[in-house]
Amino acid sequence: MKAGERFAGQTVIVTGAAHGFGRAIAHAFAWEGAAVWACDMNTEGLSETARLAHQDGLTVQTRAVDVGDAAAVGAFVAEIVAATGRVDALVNNAGGVRGQVGRPLEEISPADWQAIFAVNVDGAFFFAQAVAPHMKARKSGRIINISSGAGLGISLTGIQAYASAKAAQIGLTRQLAHELGAWGITVNNVAPGFVRSNPTTERQWESYGEEGQRKLIDGIALKRLGTPQDIANAVLFFASDGAGWITGQILSVDGGK
Ligand SMILES: NC(=O)c1ccc[n+]([C@@H]2O[C@H](COP(=O)([O-])OP(=O)(O)OC[C@H]3O[C@@H](n4cnc5c(N)ncnc54)[C@H](O)[C@@H]3O)[C@@H](O)[C@H]2O)c1
Repeated sequence: MKAGERFAGQTVIVTGAAHGFGRAIAHAFAWEGAAVWACDMNTEGLSETARLAHQDGLTVQTRAVDVGDAAAVGAFVAEIVAATGRVDALVNNAGGVRGQVGRPLEEISPADWQAIFAVNVDGAFFFAQAVAPHMKARKSGRIINISSGAGLGISLTGIQAYASAKAAQIGLTRQLAHELGAWGITVNNVAPGFVRSNPTTERQWESYGEEGQRKLIDGIALKRLGTPQDIANAVLFFASDGAGWITGQILSVDGGK
C-alpha cells in the first residue's frame, strides 16, 4: 500500500503512544503525511513505535512525558510549536488502569483512585489547556479524546476509578466542544470496546477462559474483537476535513452492542 497525504503539512500530537492504540494512531497519522509527535512514560515502547514507523519510511518524534505533569505537558507542546509552528490535532489516548485490577471499593486507597484520574482525566485537561492558545490563534484544531465503553456504562474490569474517570473525560469532551467551538476547534471522543492491545488486556482476556471469551464475542454484533487499527480509523475520521461540523460527540467503536 502507498502512503497517503490526507494530513500532509499538519502537526499531530498523540499521547500514550508506547503501544496499543497510541502506536497505531501515531503510525496512521504519519502514514497519511502528518508530522507526528508522540509521548508516553514508557520509553522502551516509544522507541519501538519510532522504529516501526522508520521501518515503513515514516518519522514519529517521541518524548518521555508524564501527562499528569502540567509543566511537562506545557514544555512538550512549546517544543512542538517552536519546531513546527502549529498543532492541528491532539489525541488524548494515554490512559488505562495503571496496572490495577478490580477490587471491592473499601480496599481502594486515595492514591489508587487518583493515579487513574491523573492519566485519564488530568492528562487530557492539561494537554487541551496547552494546545488551545495555538489552535485558537489559527482558528482551527481537532481534539480527540479516547474514553471507553466503561465511561458510558460499566467497566468489565470492575475498577471504579476507571469507569468514573472515563465518564469524566466524556464530560470534559462535551464541555470543551462548547467552549472552543467559536474558534473552529472540534472536540470529540472515541469510546473503544475491549481490544487485546497490551499486557493488561491480554491478562484480562486470559482470565475469561474459553467460555467467557466466547460469550464476549457473541455479545458483539460483528462477532469479532476489534483491533488498534479499528480505533485509529475512527480517530483519523474525527481529525479529517470531512468531520468539520461534528463536535462534542462520542463515537462507540466496539463492533456493535
Ligand atoms: N484496550 C482496550 O480494550 C481499551 C478499551 C477501551 C478504552 N481503552 C483506552 O484506550 C487508550 C489506549 O489503551 P491501550 O489499550 O492502547 O493501552 P493502555 O491502556 O495500556 O495505555 C496507553 C498508554 O498510556 C501510557 N501512560 C499511562 N500513564 C501515562 C502517563 N501518566 N503519562 C504518559 N503516558 C502514560 C501507557 O504507558 C500506555 O503506553 C487508554 O486510554 C485506554 O483506557 C482501551
